[in-house]
Amino acid sequence: MPGASDRPHLTPDDDPDLGEIVVTEEALARRLAELGAEITRDYQGRSPLLICVLKGAVMFMADLARHVELPVELDFMAVSSYGSATKSSGVVRIVKDLDIDLGGRDVIVVEDIVDSGLTLNYLLKNLASRDPASLEVCALLLKEGQQKAEPPLRYVGFRLPNTFLVGYGLDVAERYRNLRDIRTFVGEVGGR
Ligand code: IMP
Ligand code: MG
Repeated sequence: MPGASDRPHLTPDDDPDLGEIVVTEEALARRLAELGAEITRDYQGRSPLLICVLKGAVMFMADLARHVELPVELDFMAVSSYGSATKSSGVVRIVKDLDIDLGGRDVIVVEDIVDSGLTLNYLLKNLASRDPASLEVCALLLKEGQQKAEPPLRYVGFRLPNTFLVGYGLDVAERYRNLRDIRTFVGEVGGR
């Protein structure tokens, strides 16, 4: 007999592995409009290059970019961080590199969530060595008090307490990225 969490769930509200909604779809839409307006203001007369850190930031970058009223360019990179399912170690490998040369560009790294900060710290060192004109970070979520490294964050969507979150790009074992809101995950990681 398969357990409850082995069955596909028709709606997130039926899924016993999902807890409370932490950021609603409406709150995301409002905050993204604000962040987009800030970036539009801060980068007047320039054409920033937005870098999406795959896969978690894919929804965020797609929605954010549409709120930036500037000629932006988009690029993508993928990193894999060694560590357990839910904790990163800070040892990062670039799995997919950028297509666009960063030399002289105004770069904004678009990240889903900063937990220990180790992944982002590594990434920023790597990107800084490619001589961009400027390098800033726009992170959707920051887990308060968890940072072992303090990467400089120019833009932060929401500061949240330390719980494991899924939805709007965030996953557990590749699931839940397509939830329209951000929820706590209360199931067992790797228990599926
Ligand atoms: P850090 O290196 O500890 O800051 O971890 C950052 C990465 O771990 C994020 O970019 C996410 O991919 C992943 N991560 C951290 N916390 C969560 C979470 O609550 N849900 C889903 N993924 C997370
Ligand atoms: Mg990520």
